[in-house]
Amino acid sequence: MNILTLETTCDETAAAVVTDELAVLGSVVASQDALHQRFGGVVPEIASRAHVERILPVVDEALRRANLQLADLDAVAVANMPGLAGSLIVGLVAAKTLALALDIPLVAVNHLQAHIYACRIAAGRDIFPCVGLIVSGGHTSLYRCRTAIDFELLGGTIDDAAGEAFDKVASMLGLPFPGGPALGRVAEKGNPRAYSFPRSLLHDDDRLDFSFSGLKTAVRYEIAGPGRTDFKALALDEQTVADVAASFQEAVVDCLVGKALLALKKQRMNILCVAGGVAANRRLRTRLEEEAQRRRFELHVPPIALCTDNAVMGAIAVERLKAGLIEELDLDAYPGLIRG
Ligand code: KG4
Ligand code: ZN
Repeated sequence: MNILTLETTCDETAAAVVTDELAVLGSVVASQDALHQRFGGVVPEIASRAHVERILPVVDEALRRANLQLADLDAVAVANMPGLAGSLIVGLVAAKTLALALDIPLVAVNHLQAHIYACRIAAGRDIFPCVGLIVSGGHTSLYRCRTAIDFELLGGTIDDAAGEAFDKVASMLGLPFPGGPALGRVAEKGNPRAYSFPRSLLHDDDRLDFSFSGLKTAVRYEIAGPGRTDFKALALDEQTVADVAASFQEAVVDCLVGKALLALKKQRMNILCVAGGVAANRRLRTRLEEEAQRRRFELHVPPIALCTDNAVMGAIAVERLKAGLIEELDLDAYPGLIRG
């Protein structure tokens, strides 16, 4: 069975062809980084328009890589929650059109569940039930993942997402967009103990929540002082940038790792899956691996290409098809709704 999966929740236009055995026949991700770079963040209207221009060429290219025709498809899946409304709608309309024209089932994909499913694909075997930590530009949340498609929210950020904090701090430090990967690279040359930044909520064992806005402000005060916003004029030297980056990164990683361990303990589980763009961060991956060895739990973090947004993780559609979850053509987009 060949399934076309579409992903347009934020600023990547992606399509993949996967089989019900989770083989990846073809995958394409068209990044919009170059379009959003000069604004220092994703501009929703620009993202939607770029999706409109790119979705059909991206689908064509995924099929070409899979060496298949439209007529060879048995189902079409699309991420319809959560994400930017305008972006979601482009993928949704394309998927509905294909489902109608080809007379094949339409499958809905929850983007957050799909991020965790990237761990399942990479593992090559069942990983549920597990604790799932999703760390991306829009989300930082912990879930009890009963099955691939049945999640219970345990906690999450009460303000910024971890990826958003990475992007904002990177921009203060004059690093290029998207800031997360750039900051991670620079941090490798810095001293993670050069500055002591706050680890909000880390020592509150009753909560599985995160908070990164105070950390962002602490970085800002450290490099610019209160009130000042012209970060370009600061002209920080290379070592200061590296030290601030490393100290900031260490604070975020401490919080992510600390709460993930607390979730495993509270849920009495020993499988941890970590996914989303920030899971591409080297320091986070290393620290998680160290903890997994020390505390003897099973850790799954996908390869980097499956951490950031992609359509391969839309193979979670296989699980929904198995459960008989096929959608009607009035399927809606849910920008903020996180349904289990
Ligand atoms: O999952 P994703 O591609 O898109 C969303 O669903 O948000 O995550 C994008 C986020 C961005 O904030 C980006 O800066 C961050 O992931 N990111 C990283 C790294 N690679 C991507 N953050 C830290 N270190 C990285 N290596
Ligand atoms: Zn994502």
